[in-house]
This record gives sequence, structure tokens and C-alpha cells, in this order.
Amino acid sequence: MFLVANWKMNMTRDRIGEYLSVLDQNGLSGILEGSTLEVALAPTHVYLDFVAEEVRRRHLPVKVFAQDVSTRTEGAFTGEVGVRNIQDAGATGSILGHSERRRYFGETDAGVTIKTGLCLNAGAIPVVCFGESLEERNAGATLSVLRQQLTCVADEVAGARKNGNDTPVFLAYEPVWAIGSGINASPDDIRNVLSAVSEGFPWPELPRFLYGGSVNLDNIGLLSGLKELSGFLVGGAWLDPDVFLDSVKALR
Ligand code: 13P
Repeated sequence: MFLVANWKMNMTRDRIGEYLSVLDQNGLSGILEGSTLEVALAPTHVYLDFVAEEVRRRHLPVKVFAQDVSTRTEGAFTGEVGVRNIQDAGATGSILGHSERRRYFGETDAGVTIKTGLCLNAGAIPVVCFGESLEERNAGATLSVLRQQLTCVADEVAGARKNGNDTPVFLAYEPVWAIGSGINASPDDIRNVLSAVSEGFPWPELPRFLYGGSVNLDNIGLLSGLKELSGFLVGGAWLDPDVFLDSVKALR
């Protein structure tokens, strides 16, 4: 299982230091040893370097992921952060197409597709987020929305595979109504969506799915029983290193 803590626009250098100390002092390395669990922390771009360096210094088995990358590779694009930049700062991959970026910052399906291709080309692991809003769900439009979000991404992954690219890809089902709301999708909701997405889109391989949306210590046990899931993408609950550690222990 792959567990990603999306810190969003939270955390400062001091708090990151404390967070990593808790993981270190409470034996994250020992807990992960011999298991198939892999964990990643996703700080804002400015702390990628710092987290990567601290994780290395403390010998913590933790990957570092970015929360977004640019649609451009390099050049005169003021304020942008490209795939090469995040890799240079120690990131293994990036979250892409998070609903908060779609909702507040004009992220489009076309942009997410370009970013997916750039990550794959660079050997950076994309974690592509998708999910419907409450209005879309209530209108029975979930599948058509997901088709719009993911068809081009599936084509992009298929094209990369044809060219011999074998960079892993994760798809994170994050229903907008479940994010930060305290209401997680039920196992049945998740199963239905994942089977429709697996079967109805031109994936070149069986997709690896994460789930995100109000995951916490009370529901992670139940949700982890879903054989369709390869892990979790968690916001609020995993801003607390003790909850993060307890979650890892619960899944161990
Ligand atoms: P919460 O875990 O706070 O609901 O956020 C989920 C999320 O958006 C992770 O990317």
C-alpha cells in the first residue's frame, strides 16, 4: 500500500522538523520494515528540499512528493515549478489535478493530461486525482464527469507505455464532497466508481487506485479492506504525525 500525506498549504519549517522527529522517535523505520507499505509526504514546493534533506539525514523510509507541477518544462515562466525542479529538490513524483487546484486555480483536464505526460517522461510518479462534486453526484453525472477527467489521461498513459515508459502511475479517487467534510465515501461508493473507471477507460494496464476524502483512524481499517485500493491520499488527519503513525500501524 502507498500512503501519501497531502499537507496542502499547511506546515512550516519548525512543524516539519517536529513531525519528522515524531516519526523518527516512534520508530517509523521499524514499523515499515518487512512490510509492503510505502509512505510519502507532500509539502508545498518551498519545503521539498528541506523535507527530502531531513528524511535523508534521519534515514527515514519516506518519499517526498510535490502537490503540483507546471505544464511547462523550463524557461521564461515566472512563478512556475517544473518537473525537473521538483525532482532536483528530492521529489519522487507529484500529486496532479487535485480538486482544490481545479476549483480555485483553473486547473483543466487538458492541463492535468499534459502534466501527467511530463511526469512520466521525466520518470516522476504522477498521482492523478479525480472525483465528482456533490451536485454532479446528485445529478447522476458521476461517470460522465470522471470520463471527462480521465479519458485523456488514460490515452496519455497508453501512449507513454507504447513508447516503453514504465513509470508507475497512481489514480486517486477523491470525491469533492468527501474532502475535508468528515463524510467519507462508503466502500460500496468507492468500489462502484473504481470498477467503472477500470473497465470503461482506455487504460493500458489495470490502474492502481488510492482513495482520499475524510480518511481518519476510525474509517481507515474498514476502507483498507477494499482489495481495489492500493493506498490512501490523506489531508487533515495526517497533519498530525501521531495519527499518521497510528494509521501506518493500523495498516501494517
Ligand atoms: P482530507 O483528508 O482532509 O479530507 O483531504 C483529502 C485530500 O484532499 C487529500 O488530497
